[in-house]
Amino acid sequence: MKVTLFDAKPYDLPGFRRYGEQAGIEFKIYETKLNEDTVSLAAGSDAVCVFVNDTVNAPVIDRLAEYGVRAVALRCAGYNNVDLEHAFGKIHVMHVPAYSPYAVAEHAAAMLLTSIRRIHKAYIRTKDFNFSLNGLTGFELRGKTVGIVGTGRIGRAFIEICRGFGMKVIAYDKFPAEGIDYVSLDELFARADIISLHCPLTEETRHLINRESVGKMKKGVVIVNTSRGGLIESEALLDGIKERKIGAACLDVYEEESDVFFRDFSGHIMDDDTLARLITMPNVLLTSHQAFLTEEALDSIAEQTVGNLVEFFAEGRSENELCYRCGRQEECRKKRSRKCF
Ligand code: NAI
Repeated sequence: MKVTLFDAKPYDLPGFRRYGEQAGIEFKIYETKLNEDTVSLAAGSDAVCVFVNDTVNAPVIDRLAEYGVRAVALRCAGYNNVDLEHAFGKIHVMHVPAYSPYAVAEHAAAMLLTSIRRIHKAYIRTKDFNFSLNGLTGFELRGKTVGIVGTGRIGRAFIEICRGFGMKVIAYDKFPAEGIDYVSLDELFARADIISLHCPLTEETRHLINRESVGKMKKGVVIVNTSRGGLIESEALLDGIKERKIGAACLDVYEEESDVFFRDFSGHIMDDDTLARLITMPNVLLTSHQAFLTEEALDSIAEQTVGNLVEFFAEGRSENELCYRCGRQEECRKKRSRKCF
C-alpha cells in the first residue's frame, strides 16, 4: 500500500515509520501541506494521510479521485478541513476519533493554571534574575465556576480535572450526557468564571464566542480554547480584552492558524495583525495547536491511523470512516453496511 503523508513533522515520523513498516505501508513523506497546488504529489498513491491544516476541499478531492486515491486518513480527531459532502461517493475519509483525550484536557488545564498564576511571566522574570512579585497576583480555582462547552471525550476529561480542583462545573452540549449539570449557553456565559471550549467546529458552532456572547459574560472571564480556532471570532475576542471584559485568553488554536502554526516565523514580519495584537496582550497565552503533542498521543495516532488504513484496504471499510451523514442515525449507511457508501 502506498500512502502520501502531508504536513509531516519530525515528531510524526518515528511512529508512522514503525507502524507503517509492520503493516507493509510505503509512506511518501512531505513537509508541505496538502492543497490544490500540492495535490499532484499524491498521484500513484492508494491513500493520503493528512493533519488539521491540510486542505481537503472539493477541487482537492476531485483531483485525488482522478489519481485513483481511495482514502483520506486524517491523523487527528477534528475533520472541519474536509468537505465531507463532496467526498461522499468519491473517496473514503477516516479519522482517529480518540487518541488521548487526556493530552488535550491536561494542556487546557496547564494553560489555565499558567495564565491565572502568571507562571509564564514568572519564568521569564526569574531567568533574568528578577525576583520581584509585583503584578504576579493570581486567583484560586477552588470554588470558581467553570463552563464547559462540549462534554465529549476531551470535555469530560477536563471536567474531571476541574472537579479535582474543587471547581463548580456547569456545561452545555447539544447532546447531554449523564452526571453533568447542563445549563443553556446563555446561562453558561452569564455564570462561568472560566469558559473552556471542547465542541467541534461546525456551521452551528462557528463564532460561538462573538461580540454578543462576550457581552453576556462575567467581567474578568477566562476563555480557554483547545478545540478549533473558528469557534471564536478573533476580533470580538480582541475587543473584549481591550475593553477589560475578558480577563484572560488561553488559546491553543486560532481562526487563521493554517498559514502560521507549525512554522517558524521568528525574524519575519507577521502579516496577521489580529494575531500579532493578541500575542502582545499580557493576558493572552498562545500555543500553536500543541495540545495533542504528547508521546502517548503521537504513538496512539500513528497506530490508529495505520490501523484504519490496513482495515480499509483489507476489508473495504473502517470503523472510523466518516461521512456527512454520520451521526444522523437514520441516514448514514455505516450502521447497516459498515461503510458510509
Ligand atoms: P467528541 O466528539 O468526543 O466530543 C465533542 C462534543 O461536542 C460531543 O459531546 C458533542 O455532542 C458536542 N457538540 C457537538 N455539537 C455541539 C454544539 N453545536 N454545541 C455544543 N456541543 C456540541 O470530541 P473530542 O474528542 O472531545 O474533541 C473535541 C474537539 O477537540 C474536536 O472537535 C477537535 O476540534 C478538538 N481537538 C483539539 C486538539 C488539539 O490539539 N488542540 C486535539 C484533538 C481534538
